[in-house]
Parts: sequence; structure tokens; C-alpha cells
Amino acid sequence: MTGTTTIKNGPNHVAVIMDGNGRWAQSRGKPRLFGHHAGAKRVKEIVRACPDHDVKYLTIFAFSTENWKRTQTEVSGLMKLFRRYIASEARDLLAEGVRVRFIGDRVKLDAKLCRLMDEIELLTSGNDRVHLTIALNYGGRDELGRATKRLAREVSAGRIDPETVDETTLARFLDTCFLPDPDLVIRTSGEARISNFLLWQAAYSEYEFVNTLWPDFSAAEFATVLTSYGKRERRFGAVPA
Ligand code: IPE
Ligand code: IPE
Ligand code: MG
Repeated sequence: MTGTTTIKNGPNHVAVIMDGNGRWAQSRGKPRLFGHHAGAKRVKEIVRACPDHDVKYLTIFAFSTENWKRTQTEVSGLMKLFRRYIASEARDLLAEGVRVRFIGDRVKLDAKLCRLMDEIELLTSGNDRVHLTIALNYGGRDELGRATKRLAREVSAGRIDPETVDETTLARFLDTCFLPDPDLVIRTSGEARISNFLLWQAAYSEYEFVNTLWPDFSAAEFATVLTSYGKRERRFGAVPA
């Protein structure tokens, strides 16, 4: 889809749990990794659709802290896919004004992948058209644990007075400190759960669970979901005027 389609009251920040790659492949008699490759192609289409709908921030769940439980073949295939994706897409992302950043714990990721992540973050750091954040080895609880540890260190070093600690203090220590909260969280594949994604940040997000498997999630369906978000009334605990 090209050209701006005006979506009334559309979201500024959309977060996506890209689920269903494995089932998509299996239903075609193919290995799960075939689905992950098809899913990676969809990412490009959805990133490209964002400026058309004034979506400034797109955050995608690529690999969770729980996904290490999968077979070694799948995990190493995914890691290879991430490396290849970053290397092959860097030039287009730069040209299209996309600023790429990552959230998640890098400690368990291999050095080569980390280097590519650093490189694309630096390469695209001057871009501002779309902010693409990729959650890689990300878990909401893990993030809160790491943030708490860093905050505790600041407190014990005497740099933060524990009496002043509130939710804005903790938010500054999260991986997402550079991001606004997501307005809309989309999960594909028919599962209605958040699987440890953005636990803190999505406290007041709207949710859309769609049955489509991620490799089939088109820009047109994305637009439909954004339109339906625009019709919702967000109250944040208040009584509507
Ligand atoms: C989501 O698709 C991608 C990742 C978790 C890496 P899945 O691989 O979870 O696909 P299903 O849910 O098994 O179909
Ligand atoms: C969530 O999907 C993680 C990603 C999309 C990267 P999963 O497929 O891992 O979630 P569960 O296991 O069904 O909850
Ligand atoms: Mg899944």
C-alpha cells in the first residue's frame, strides 16, 4: 500500500507480537524456519506502511527470553536470520528514514550479531521518519529485573535518594527509556496473551488479537487494525466528558 490513507485518531506507537510463523510453515509441510523467513519479509512491508498512517514508532517482538527453550536448530536458524536480516536490510532502512534500535538483554547474543546491532543503530541514528525497535532476547520481567538492578546500584552508590524513587525513576532504567508507551499492541495468530512483552509499557495500551498468522499479515490488514483502533475510546481511568 502506498500513499497516505488518513486514519482518524490513529496510534503513534504500535507494538507487534509477530506470532504464527511456525504454524504457517507447518501447514505447508515446511520446516519452521521457512515460516520465520516468510515472517521477516512481512516486517519490511509493515515498516514501510507506517509513515503512510502516521505511525511514528513500531516495536516488534522478534525473540523472547523464553524462546531459548526451542530446539537448537530453530534457535540457531533464527540467530542466523537476524544477522542476515540486519546485514541485508541496513541500506534500505537507512534510505527509508528508519531509525533502528534494539531492546532486550544482549548478554546471551553472539558477538557477531551484537556488532551488527550496534552498527545498524549507529548507521540509522540520524533518522527520524519511523522508529523501529526490535525486541531481541527480550522479556518484560527480565527487563524489569535488569532495570531494578541498575537502579539499586545507583541508590547504593548514593547517586539516587531511595525516597525519591517512583515510577518515572524506574522507567528511566528500562530498555525502552527512549520510547513513548505503545498505544496499540497487535498479536497475530489467534493467541490472546502477551507472552512477557512490554509488561510495564503496555499497562494502558489497547490490544488487537487477530487470527492471521504473521507471514500472512498484510499492509492492508495492518491498516484495518489501525482504523479500528481509531474508533476506540481510551479513558485511562477517567470518566469520559
Ligand atoms: C513467532 O512465531 C516467531 C518467534 C517466536 C520467533 P512462532 O515461531 O511462535 O510460530 P508458532 O506460534 O509456533 O506458529
Ligand atoms: C511470543 O511468541 C514471542 C515472539 C513473537 C517473539 P511465542 O510463540 O514465543 O509465545 P507463546 O510461547 O505462544 O506464549
Ligand atoms: Mg508462537
